Amino acid sequence: MNHTRPLTATQPTAARRTLTRWIAGGLAVAALAGYGPASAQTPIVLQFSHVVTPDTAKGKAALRFKELAESRTGGKVRVEIYPNSQLYKDREELDALRLGAVQMIAPSLSKLASLGGGDFEVFDLPFLFKDRAAFRAAVNGPVGASLLGKLEPHGVKGLAFWDNGFKVFSANRPLQSVDDFKALKVRVQASRVLVSQMKTLGAQASVSPLANVYEALRSGQLDGQENTPTNIETQRLHDVQRHLTVSNHGYLAYAVIVNKPFWDKLPADIRIALEGALHDASVFENSIAGAENTKALEHIKASGKLTVHTATPQELNQWRTALLPVYKEAQGWISVETLRALDALNGPPP
Ligand code: LMR
Repeated sequence: MNHTRPLTATQPTAARRTLTRWIAGGLAVAALAGYGPASAQTPIVLQFSHVVTPDTAKGKAALRFKELAESRTGGKVRVEIYPNSQLYKDREELDALRLGAVQMIAPSLSKLASLGGGDFEVFDLPFLFKDRAAFRAAVNGPVGASLLGKLEPHGVKGLAFWDNGFKVFSANRPLQSVDDFKALKVRVQASRVLVSQMKTLGAQASVSPLANVYEALRSGQLDGQENTPTNIETQRLHDVQRHLTVSNHGYLAYAVIVNKPFWDKLPADIRIALEGALHDASVFENSIAGAENTKALEHIKASGKLTVHTATPQELNQWRTALLPVYKEAQGWISVETLRALDALNGPPP
């Protein structure tokens, strides 16, 4: 893995400034790059923005998609990948997608509530999935299809689910018992379930884009965070934390989504080729995500930069019990149908 602190966009880029103008002016976006039929001279440009480094499972799969899409369309499509929040940070890329300023993104499911109602936050419920297979069963079945369908009225089409894996906690103090979370300022993604999770543990939740987390931890604005080992390693978060607890308390995964008007206007043969490329890139992504996380955790341990504690079954039971109120609170915004469907797949809440 790349051990250089990743570059993130802190200065507004031209594209970001343009997006701001479009948002402010409420302009239609039909004439944006990437629209219109392909010709030999003017390939269709598909811009794919994401917020992690190219050497994560998502980053590698985005590159695999580019390779397959370009070769299978004989160059009629050019895929431009913008990794590591280079173009847009978390929330911005959702706006950019809806406006057509980029055509494809792969945000975490946690960030999709703003597009499809609260139901996507079901995946953030603590200790919901016992293993990776349980998560895949949920997204590969009717629950996954129904959730992606909820994006369409927002001008967004969901095409695939990509894995990352189970999250762990890191902080500048050891995290073992629930009391250790008291008053800790912890970064979470923009999800009410995750905010509720932290509050229920007695911590303060701070919602911020991934691109800001390293600096906030380094400067002491934040005390801790939760993420997968690959995101921790590639964002160098273990350089600015003293303790990590392997808790596997929640799951992080993605939906690959596209701007629907862009997708629907593609010539049928091109769309079919892109769907095939995405299918193969998705199989690849889902096949490497687990091993990438195992490797990243080993690297983090070997770095010796922080103390790594694996939560004991007793500690996890205490956390589980303490977190039960999150399930109740989430009924306020996650539909009964989605909760029931997940229960049926997974067994009742812990
Ligand atoms: C995060 O914001 O921590 C993650 O969603 C980033 C990612 O895309 O894995």
